[in-house]
Order: sequence, then C-alpha cells, then structure tokens
Amino acid sequence: MGNFMFHGVDVTDLAREYGTPLYVMSEDEIVRRVREVRRCFDERYERCSAFFASKSFLTKDMLRILMREGMGLDVVSEGELFLAREMGFPPEKIAFHGNSKTEREIASGLDYGVGKFVCDSQGEIALIDEMARERGALASVLIRVTPGVDAHTHKYISTGEAGSKFGLPPEAAKDAVSFCGTLRNVSLSGFHFHVGSQLMDNSSHLEALDVLLPLIKELDAERFETKILDMGGGFGVRYTEKDSPQGISGFIGGMVDRVEDFCRSNGIARPSLVVEPGRWIVSDAGITLYTVGSVKRLAGGGTYVGVDGGYPDNPRPALYGAEYEAVLANKAGLPPAETVSVAGKCCESGDILIHSIALPEARRGDVLAVMCTGAYNHSMSNNYNKNPVPAVVMIKDGAPRLSVRRQTYEEMFSGNI
Ligand code: LLP
Repeated sequence: MGNFMFHGVDVTDLAREYGTPLYVMSEDEIVRRVREVRRCFDERYERCSAFFASKSFLTKDMLRILMREGMGLDVVSEGELFLAREMGFPPEKIAFHGNSKTEREIASGLDYGVGKFVCDSQGEIALIDEMARERGALASVLIRVTPGVDAHTHKYISTGEAGSKFGLPPEAAKDAVSFCGTLRNVSLSGFHFHVGSQLMDNSSHLEALDVLLPLIKELDAERFETKILDMGGGFGVRYTEKDSPQGISGFIGGMVDRVEDFCRSNGIARPSLVVEPGRWIVSDAGITLYTVGSVKRLAGGGTYVGVDGGYPDNPRPALYGAEYEAVLANKAGLPPAETVSVAGKCCESGDILIHSIALPEARRGDVLAVMCTGAYNHSMSNNYNKNPVPAVVMIKDGAPRLSVRRQTYEEMFSGNI
C-alpha cells in the first residue's frame, strides 16, 4: 500500500516532521512554470515581459526564485512591496497595482522607485503627480481600463465588466490621458486591463483587446503613443476534472497575435506587452496536508471527515464555491470506499473544504492531501478562530526544507497591548 508522493517526497513523512495543516510547495514546479511563461512570452516575442502577481503567493523563497529567473513582480499593497524591498527585488521590475492606494503606499512606491504605478482613477493620478513633485521624481504610470467584458468566471474574481470597481471605462480613460498631458511629474506610458481570474480560455482577453486596441489607435491619431499594454493575468488551471484550461502558450500567444495583427493592419507601432500570471505559476506547485480528526457518519446518510484546518488556511471554497481534489495520503493505493464531505474545523457551516469526494475509509490520524492549493491559499490565510497560519515546506530536487515557519500563538497575539 503506497503512500502519496509529491515531487519525490512521501508526504506522510512531511506531515509527521512538520505537523499539519501544512502547505507543501515544489520549487522545481514553480521554476518550470516561470520558465514556461518566459519561454512562451518574454523570449518568444520582442519587448514582452511577464510580472508575477505576488498576491497569489508571496514568500521570501518565492521572491528568490523570481529574482533568479528574472521575472518581474506585481504588488498591490505596501505589505507586498515591503517584502520585495526587504529582499532587494529590483524596483524597476515592480508594478504597483491597487484600486484604492493609500498615500503611504504611494509614498513607499515612489521612495523605492517602482517601475510603474497602475492607476485606477484620475484622483490617484493627481495624487501620484503631487507626491512625485514633492520628491522631485517622475512617476511612470499606466491607466487601468475597464473593457466591459464578461469573464465567464466566479463573479467575485471577475474584474473587467462594466460597473466594476476596477479601472476606468474607455471614455473616462481618454479623459485621464488628456489629464496626464497636463501633469509634469507623471509620465503616462500606456494601459492595463485585467478581465478576471481562473479563465479557461483567452476569449475574454481577446474581447478586451478588441476594446483596447481601437482606443490605442484613436489616441495614436491624437498623437498619444501607447508604449506599454499590460494584459493582466487570469490564466486558469485545473482544480478538478470540470476544468480544462487552454494551454498557456496558446492562451498568451493568441493575445500577442491579436495585438500584432491589429497594429500591423492599422499602421501603428506595437506597444511593449506585459502579462501578470499568478495562479498559473504556483497553483499546481502546491498541496495542503491535513490530519483527519473526527469521522462522523450521519444516521440519515452522509459522512463528514473532519480535518485540522479549513477556512483559515483555505477560504476559497467558502468564498467562491471552489472545488478541489484530494487523496488520503497514507491510503493512496486503496480504492475509494465511500463518498464523504471534508469538513474544516471552523465554527462556520460554510467551512467545508470539499463537499463530495470518494475516499478510502477515513480514520482519525490519516493524512489528507488536498491538491492544487499553491495559489491564493497561503496568501489568503487568516487567523479565524485563532488558528495559526500553517508552515510552508518547499521541495527542491526531492529534498524538502522549511520555507516559512508555522505561526506561533505568541506571534499571533504579539500586537496585543
Ligand atoms: N493582475 C491583476 C491586476 C490582478 O488583479 C490579478 C488577480 C492578477 C494579475 C493575477 O491573476 P491570476 O493569474 O492569478 O488569475 N483570490 C482569488 C483570486 C483573485 C485574483 C485577483 N486578481 C482566488 O482565490 O481565486
């Protein structure tokens, strides 16, 4: 009876050594995917660069990998920028996003000299200009445009539809371009859009380009040359058999083709292109290990397999109805015996990690490995019910090492006065 192996490591050994819940990440898989994005984008086309969306997974080790591999970074808060700064991430390779940046955040971005601010409103542009002037700096900015397209994903991770809180509709974006022309300490280099996340194909991105490219052409005729077009992230992954994502090369390649064709046939210079993958790079590179606690068989049918984590380490099922596959790692060779629900340990009825999954008979002490948890799980972890944030173990060349320590209770309460 074999145990479940993840990138060459018996995960039951990891559960024993590091405790559970435990995030396990494969450095080899992250690197493979970073290189794949670079190969099918940065290196395949002229003037193209990928920025990793740090909101999906941000640790010191992740930054080390990105720096080694030469990938840029998208940050969305002072906290994300703080760690990048601590690690000496090259500022020119950082794009600062956010629909409601605070003055403090703008100040830290300016002081660190981030390469781009992706601006969400005219008011923000005015503030960046004023704060850059105080510092004798010139801030390079992109305007985020809301293309008004439906992203065919959960509405909470859809961002490009009309009325979205993100970005400016095309008409307002044009006004913002004119406004930038009146400012001295802001240099507008182009546009950004992000239609949503976990998208199975590039149809929404192409629809967005069909809005952005005519806008770029119109502005070109008015003598504003778009130097950069940032097409966001959103490249989907397979969580369960219900997902069948388009390959990354075709996904991104189709977008580049659309831009190149348009620019060629309209006689305008093709802007430099940017993509910002998050989930696609880290999701499949991670799993989460839990220990089974109570197994409860209801008289009326149905079984709850309770585990020692849940909402605090993975709020995605409760927030988006996200679905996952899992195995009982110490019974990986056994056939399924029953269909169960995997219950998280929080005092919330919505804290069900998996509503329905066929597993071998589960017993207290078994190790459950939930697949594809590398993106947005560690980064969205929280202390609800005062559960500590799990440790992160990183596997490289078949050797595991501790990458982030488990949060202690002292750390959890350290801010209390
Ligand atoms: N660029 C921008 C401006 C974004 O807002 C995002 C994600 C990305 C890039 C990266 O998207 P990705 O390639 O990872 O799909 N917490 C949610 C996902 C929220 C995504 C927010 N923005 C989840 O757990 O599914």
